[in-house]
Amino acid sequence: MTRRSILVTGGAGYIGSHVLLQLVAAGERVVVLDDLSTGFADAVLGAELSVGNVADQALVARLLRGHEVDTVLHFAARTIVPESVADPLRYYANNTCATRNLLECCRDAGVAQIVFSSSAAVYGTPPGGIAREDTPAAPINPYGSSKLMSEWMLRDLAAAGGPRYVALRYFNVAGCDPAGRIGQSTAHATLLFKVACEAALGKRGALSIFGTDYPTPDGTGVRDYIHVDDLARAHLDALRYLRAGGASTTLNCGYGHGYSVREVLAAVGRAHGAPVRCVECPRRAGDPASLVAESAQIRTTLGWRPRHDDLDFIARTALAWEKKLSG
Ligand code: UD1
Repeated sequence: MTRRSILVTGGAGYIGSHVLLQLVAAGERVVVLDDLSTGFADAVLGAELSVGNVADQALVARLLRGHEVDTVLHFAARTIVPESVADPLRYYANNTCATRNLLECCRDAGVAQIVFSSSAAVYGTPPGGIAREDTPAAPINPYGSSKLMSEWMLRDLAAAGGPRYVALRYFNVAGCDPAGRIGQSTAHATLLFKVACEAALGKRGALSIFGTDYPTPDGTGVRDYIHVDDLARAHLDALRYLRAGGASTTLNCGYGHGYSVREVLAAVGRAHGAPVRCVECPRRAGDPASLVAESAQIRTTLGWRPRHDDLDFIARTALAWEKKLSG
């Protein structure tokens, strides 16, 4: 049987590069497409990097045919919620329209299966702050809407005979490769763990806590933080599932319990050995109070078993990478 290859879009980015490490370790043949707008060429370890945009259909078609791709893992997207509120059309262009172009190429090239990076942001503010896959999607920011529209395109294309897919709705991804080879290098980071590590190491001033009056136990926002290594493993599980003929599905990817902003800051403080400096600020636009996964379905459907469900471990790996970046 000919071994076919996998196209990883956004493979130079934070999550894509961590998935790439596991694909390469599993002996998969991979080609990466990334426009390096937010990713880093040196995060692409063990695969060929093609620099370009997923919306470029001529390029994508060439890659799919030239590398005999039968599977696409689609990470390339813009991912910053406040930016999506300020510039929604950019998000619909980069996330929704670009995905549409990619899907057309996948259909035309006979790609068999797709694993798609979706987001818990599709849920908006679910009742009680807990989201199950059948909780109605009701995004409250353009980022979430842009991802939901991509899910709909996948669903409709699969129903019309296109590729089967697994859409993974990521909760709050954090931490870095436990072996320290790669991490989160994003410039102008906004994600809590990254910002907290930068603040701990004095790379920026005090961290702003966005909102202390939420209806949560300590008044700050609650999220389901999942280690990027566990998230990456879910993609390999999804790949196995699809190759075994599994039906198209959409699954939450989180641990199933949440931590507040203050709890995250405390964990980073423990990893650092000193408290993270912070100031209390008003709420940030587009933020729900609480968002936690109901995560039973991914465990039963894909057999996914997380290994790093530990806030302190997430904090240690995130901080270790941040120190490495400082040289
Ligand atoms: C959001 C999306 C998520 C997406 C991620 C990428 C939602 C519900 N989730 O996560 O799907 O993958 O963006 O950008 O839209 N916080 C502070 N100070 C900071 C930074 C963050 O207090 O400097 C707080 C936020 O208000 C929030 C929590 O920390 O309560 C997590 O924020 P962040 O790490 O930015 O991720 P989300 O916005 O939850």
